[in-house]
Amino acid sequence: MSTEPSTALAELQDRCNAALVGLLGHGNSEFAAEAGPHLVRLFEASAYALTRGGKRVRPLLVYAAAAAVRPASLDAGEHDPAGIDYVACAAEMVHAYSLVHDDLPAMDDDDLRRGQPTTHKAFDEATAILVGDGLQARALELLTDAPELSAETRLELVRSLAAAAGLRGMVGGQAIDIGAVDQSIDSNHLETMHALKTGALIRSSVAMGALAAGASDEQQGALDDFADAIGLAFQVCDDILDATSDSETLGKRAGADQALHKPTYVSTLGLEVARDKAEGLLAEALAALESFGDSAALLREIADFIVHRQR
Ligand code: IPE
Ligand code: IPE
Ligand code: MG
Ligand code: MG
Ligand code: MG
Repeated sequence: MSTEPSTALAELQDRCNAALVGLLGHGNSEFAAEAGPHLVRLFEASAYALTRGGKRVRPLLVYAAAAAVRPASLDAGEHDPAGIDYVACAAEMVHAYSLVHDDLPAMDDDDLRRGQPTTHKAFDEATAILVGDGLQARALELLTDAPELSAETRLELVRSLAAAAGLRGMVGGQAIDIGAVDQSIDSNHLETMHALKTGALIRSSVAMGALAAGASDEQQGALDDFADAIGLAFQVCDDILDATSDSETLGKRAGADQALHKPTYVSTLGLEVARDKAEGLLAEALAALESFGDSAALLREIADFIVHRQR
């Protein structure tokens, strides 16, 4: 059982962090400097939201899924970011954008994120909205620019990420979440909400890593099953941590779900059932990886970390 990322995962987090700084900055900082102080500030706010803190779970899934399909996929990229780094960063940019908007007063109205003031608190609301918009667009741009990948693969990557982020994915899930305040919903409805608001981007991260590595339909199918289980487990654990941990450990406000009257796995099924659910989903996720052997070692480590993390 692993409450912290393994050394191999920590190395990939570092790799992603370096690539994020480079790929956000790439030409943008010079452009902002020329365009004047308002754009410089927007650029600073984007870097604030993207590069400070965060577990990098989605990029880790991109890397690990690619390695499961073709272990050599992670070989390049020691100096310039490789194609797989572009894909990993695109997933993190969409995620970071979603957090900035999730924290806005009109959504969850949170002051603390990744151990620091939320972007709208450190800057202002209009800037936070624009940061989210800009990060989402930059993510798609990265996929179209990803080196080493064919035009067809890039198109499939854009389709996967755009669909996961959109109305039938994350944004749709956020709408259900906001609409569910003060409602008691049944476990099927809860599962749909979780699968969309958090599961869709996790599924896409795994699928994009596999696509970039040239996965067969059979491999992609097994990885989808893995991602469905671990994506749901991720949000079940987020709900458990919200109810059981403290703000300092989490780096975000604990107890927010109860304060905002949100239905969660914990409020709907109780803490023990929620914990059993997370362990059951972990077992399901690991079972889906059976055909991969050792090449799926990183995916197994991430799955374990997702369910046993402390923050
Ligand atoms: C939190 O995501 C928001 C959810 C989708 C539940 P993470 O727990 O991955 O947040 P960071 O990226 O580590 O800050
Ligand atoms: C956030 O869910 C999901 C997305 C950002 C899409 P939560 O509202 O539960 O995330 P936290 O707990 O604020 O990180
Ligand atoms: Mg929310
Ligand atoms: Mg929230
Ligand atoms: Mg939460």
